[in-house]
Amino acid sequence: MVYEAQRMSIDRLPNRWRRSPRRWGHPLHSLCSYFAMFPPQIPSVFIRWLTEPGDHVYDPFSGRGTVPLEAILLGRTGWGTDANPLAVTLTGAKTNIPSERRVLARLAELEEWAPTSGRPTVPPDIDMLFSTKTLRHLEFLRAQLDHSNPLDRFIAAMVLGILHANARYDGTPRGLSISMPNTFSMAPGYVRGYIHDQGLVAPRVNVFNALRTRLAQLDLPSASMNRGHAWKRDAMRPVPDKLKGKVKLIFTSPPYLEVIKYGKYNWVRLWFLGHEPRAVDEKLMATSSLDKYLGFMGTAMASLAPSLRKDGRACLVIGDVRRGDETINLAREVWKQVLEPTGWNLEAAISDNLPIQHKVSRIWKDRNGKATKTDRILILTRGPRDPLPSIPRMTWAEPEWQRQKEGGP
Ligand SMILES: C[S@@+](CC[C@H](N)C(=O)[O-])C[C@H]1O[C@@H](n2cnc3c(N)ncnc32)[C@H](O)[C@@H]1O
Repeated sequence: MVYEAQRMSIDRLPNRWRRSPRRWGHPLHSLCSYFAMFPPQIPSVFIRWLTEPGDHVYDPFSGRGTVPLEAILLGRTGWGTDANPLAVTLTGAKTNIPSERRVLARLAELEEWAPTSGRPTVPPDIDMLFSTKTLRHLEFLRAQLDHSNPLDRFIAAMVLGILHANARYDGTPRGLSISMPNTFSMAPGYVRGYIHDQGLVAPRVNVFNALRTRLAQLDLPSASMNRGHAWKRDAMRPVPDKLKGKVKLIFTSPPYLEVIKYGKYNWVRLWFLGHEPRAVDEKLMATSSLDKYLGFMGTAMASLAPSLRKDGRACLVIGDVRRGDETINLAREVWKQVLEPTGWNLEAAISDNLPIQHKVSRIWKDRNGKATKTDRILILTRGPRDPLPSIPRMTWAEPEWQRQKEGGP
């Protein structure tokens, strides 16, 4: 009953993000595309509504790092973890943001040492994508970038964002590779055939120049912003002590109830990071079995609970799932079968119809089945239910990060 009654009271909340400009958000959000990413407007609304500057915001399935970045830009501390090394690199770049000046200096230093002759030996599937010059730079950066250093990790994330892309209409490359039609990596055999059929020749791109061009578009702050934390964490494992009792808001979209191969479809990016796609996929939650999914969510939410402050809230974005003619309201299943029996309180369940382009099925050009059309956002607490704060007016015209930048955080 609580589920239905509470839902009515804030039904109009989605208007807050629906009325935002479509391409709203700091350019850093688009550093690199990622499966199943949500637009920054949605976490922005919840962070502004349910937290104060200085509070801690955490996403345990952080993907490309949208939540912690938005939190940091709004003056909060942003935490992000994920079990996918690609997600950890991207979230890491967005939680420790170097100044443009430092990135330029590091690029100049690296460029000075980069080799100018020879063709590196790489797997044939990688070899077919890049020209000799580009590959030389990539191999050098692969070996030199130290991922434990935030500045190098940021540069690695920039490389991932331009590693492969389609060409512009005039044929000039947008990224470093032969023109690849999708932002995810198609199967190697398909790409090989595509290169052959289209007669593609890998462009001779100077990676350092391409990174400087990309950097200019990212609008980095004039001083480094180190207000966040990112690391690799399996959501089934306990949260570390440093997070316990600290978090005011968990905002996250857990894995979908379908088998998404994050590793397989990012094999080029994972090559750059030195990870085996199959090994990555083995570590991630991917299932279409409702029972397995609910079991996973039970463990994940029990592990997360100690991180919340007494007055903290957890918001889960969970899409409905189509099974033949039937639609499963997965959020309701998670609430009824997993959360209610384990001491969570439901403050509200909000429904939203996100445009289909935010959905993974669009990537596979599948518009007729697997896509989850309706998303539900569950707002949960551990402790006694305080009334939800009233929803503040929100401006999109002048982004808060712009004001922060000018005022200096
Ligand atoms: C729906 S996506 C989140 C996307 C994110 N909201 C964004 O905007 O980029 C779900 C994430 O869960 C991660 N994941 C899957 N299994 C996991 C596990 N066992 N522990 C932690 N993260 C996991 C995936 O790598 C993926 O990044």
